[in-house]
Amino acid sequence: MKLPAIQYATSLSAHQSSLRRSCSSPLHSSFQRLLSTTSRSQLRDVFPAKETPLIQTTPPAWPHHGYTMEEMKLVAPAHRPPRTLGDHAAWKIVRFARFCMDKATGMDRAQKGDKKHPTTSIAAEKPLTEAQWLIRFVFLESIAGVPGMVGGMLRHLGSLRRLKRDNGWIETLLEESYNERMHLLTFMKMCEPGWFMKTMIIISQGIFFNGLFIAYVVSPKIVHRFVGYLEEEAVHTYTRAIAEIEDGHLPKWNSPAFKVPDIAVQYWEMPEGNRTMKDLIMYIRADEAIHRGVNHTLGNLNQQEDPNPFVSNFKDGEVPKPALKGVGYERSEVI
Ligand SMILES: [Fe+2]
Ligand SMILES: [Fe+2]
Repeated sequence: MKLPAIQYATSLSAHQSSLRRSCSSPLHSSFQRLLSTTSRSQLRDVFPAKETPLIQTTPPAWPHHGYTMEEMKLVAPAHRPPRTLGDHAAWKIVRFARFCMDKATGMDRAQKGDKKHPTTSIAAEKPLTEAQWLIRFVFLESIAGVPGMVGGMLRHLGSLRRLKRDNGWIETLLEESYNERMHLLTFMKMCEPGWFMKTMIIISQGIFFNGLFIAYVVSPKIVHRFVGYLEEEAVHTYTRAIAEIEDGHLPKWNSPAFKVPDIAVQYWEMPEGNRTMKDLIMYIRADEAIHRGVNHTLGNLNQQEDPNPFVSNFKDGEVPKPALKGVGYERSEVI
């Protein structure tokens, strides 16, 4: 009998080959081709589990808490209108990043949605292709795992330095970055980026990590707001992808032969019968909605004194639900 961890590491099944083929399908420009991926002759499992004489499996160190289908269906795109100068700065930077991403993935005019409601309107004249979606997913997730680690690390160091407790922020921030990395690893099982995209990811990480490090030291509030806006984009992106799958525009992902990677089935504990690409994106979108609500809320709190409401017990027994609070909780609602 095969071991579970080895099963996903060794399974290079037909559906993955066809998806990877979709990654390397001709796009509109040579720039996109550079960004997109690897040729079929280079296909390989990108991170096979190491077989050792003693270890049987290495399950996720931070198990996912899971969702019901009803909870995932309630997630919707949202936008918190910027109020302060810091909010406006965060929003403008995210808009610029989205502009660059649209260019890099070759979105043409007809594929773009309503410019006035960029994180809530999902209607567009023309769908994206599976390849365009995967490029966006991989790039988005490769940078999405950075802010939680920077914030968690700096708060951890602050707690050590000031000889003070942190009140529950560090674990939530680190878990967020872990969760984002699981999103990335899942998509990496479907599409291996080419050398150009790998280079872009390395450069982006260098800029993003150092920029966030300085920004978090100067103003953690603005960084949490920035991440809140980034997560609005993520929820929007995945909502649009779900809509295009439902409308039948992405046939490879609608095919009954398509199976989500085993790494995803194990991490989200996806039930039998709910393991389509649409199901997978529903899980990931729900994660993003939590990040959105959590970061918008953290951006409203006193960074030094307030406890993290998402790991607190409340006097009235009510539990905040960040996934459904797209604009985040105001401080008066949770502290
Ligand atoms: Fe993510
Ligand atoms: Fe996220």
